[in-house]
Amino acid sequence: MASIDISSQPGKDFSGDVLVVLVFSGRERHRLPLAISKVARQVMDESDFKAEYLELVPLHHPNGVKESRWMLLVGLGEEEAVTHNKLRKAAGAAARFCLKKGWKSLGLVSPATSLLDHDEVQVAVLEGVMLADYDFVLFKGKPEPKRFERIEVFTNGDDTRKARRHLPQIEAGVNACHRVRDLANTPAGDLYPEAFAELAQKLAKQHKLGIEIMDADALAKGGFNCVLAVGQGSARAPRVIKLEYKPKEKPKKHVVLVGKGICFDAGGLSLKDASGMETMKDDMTGAAIVLATLLACAEMQVPVQVTGLIGLAENMPSGSSFKPGDVLRSRSVKTIEVLNTDAEGRLILADLLHFASEMKPDHIVDLATLTGACVIALGDGVSGIFGEDQKLVEHLLDAGKATGEHLWQLPLVPEYRSALKSHVADIKNISGTRWGGAISAAMFLKDFVDHASWAHVDLSGNWSSTERDYRTYGASGEGPRWLLEWLLS
Ligand code: BES
Ligand code: ZN
Ligand code: ZN
Repeated sequence: MASIDISSQPGKDFSGDVLVVLVFSGRERHRLPLAISKVARQVMDESDFKAEYLELVPLHHPNGVKESRWMLLVGLGEEEAVTHNKLRKAAGAAARFCLKKGWKSLGLVSPATSLLDHDEVQVAVLEGVMLADYDFVLFKGKPEPKRFERIEVFTNGDDTRKARRHLPQIEAGVNACHRVRDLANTPAGDLYPEAFAELAQKLAKQHKLGIEIMDADALAKGGFNCVLAVGQGSARAPRVIKLEYKPKEKPKKHVVLVGKGICFDAGGLSLKDASGMETMKDDMTGAAIVLATLLACAEMQVPVQVTGLIGLAENMPSGSSFKPGDVLRSRSVKTIEVLNTDAEGRLILADLLHFASEMKPDHIVDLATLTGACVIALGDGVSGIFGEDQKLVEHLLDAGKATGEHLWQLPLVPEYRSALKSHVADIKNISGTRWGGAISAAMFLKDFVDHASWAHVDLSGNWSSTERDYRTYGASGEGPRWLLEWLLS
């Protein structure tokens, strides 16, 4: 982790690899801090740099900057249109540029604007850089991570105390984001249910979280027949983990977070094609988010009791796999006809959501890479959220807005439930049509929730093969930051 500082200096004496200067377009650039050198001003005056949003111009050895070898001008677009998220993303994009150049120590001149609080500007800029400061090199022959050693935000005379107060939440959120990226990017050959459970055990101990791990025998005793069925085709046995965070004071509320943890989704006997499997090591993103969020809750000592339920299995084809046509007796005793073994996430969640409902918490939120249909609907930068407790959904949407992680509400449509009717069981696991697949999956889950305040988040778009702003290739790591924001508010 880089050393981090917020300084009330203007930054012109910064001695590091690069001084990043964030600039609004239009006349606002004339209000630039002193740190801007003659060269930089010249570039701006000659209109080679218009400060359009996300425009980047590197300048070598600018005069007036005493020590840093480079200055990087970063456009913010019009000041009137500034938001925290735009600042976060512009700083993040600049940071990715610097990391690729191999620059290790970076100073940032925080922009001056009267439209946002100073401390929030400083914090947004810093957070964008920290989110971008990630490199997945665990599986490189010679790991040489492109990471920062030093990050310093300059604020030209502003009081930095208020900004510093945000630091613990930012650090906890960024660490959790990076942890989710690490877990979801790790190949399934290395991260299988037992390995995930062992890691969770180690981390839970370090963070003083309660943990219970159920192996196949315990799952059979506990009636988790759907988890067992999904996992039965794999040589790696399934696990369910229960994590517990309790605040020191009497908790204000109790929340249960439920995560889908399919360590690899081959589709089972309803086998996916080769390209459909390429990213399916990430089908445990929900589980990773639950684990990372509970660790962050402990770091932040949130005032809410949080239980994490994680269902881990591998969905593989083999002689012992569950089969299309099988009828499963779920934990709730409702029976499920399996017509497509690739719709396995909802089966695992059926058992876990029933278990969660028994705990009678205030809210249940499940997180799952559940449907390709959700990616078709919303793309790879937005998660779908479903729920009938509109207040809960709105609180979660607000947390998403505050952290710049994009959630969008999709409807639960009662009429679509009839497509899930089975001739032989209480419900079947597919609707028989491709249309509205994210909604029919959510309608399936609803049958197993015996609770008034539940939200389902379809995270299928959390993998991206395009790098954008502070986001890196692969798993986005989104989830813990908005969950933490919600739990803290
Ligand atoms: N894990 C997948 C969903 C998924 C697909 C996430 C692509 C991200 C990208 C899930 O288990 C699945 O295979 N769902 C099927 C459901 C279908 C058989 C009803 C799907 O979406 O195709
Ligand atoms: Zn599947
Ligand atoms: Zn899946």
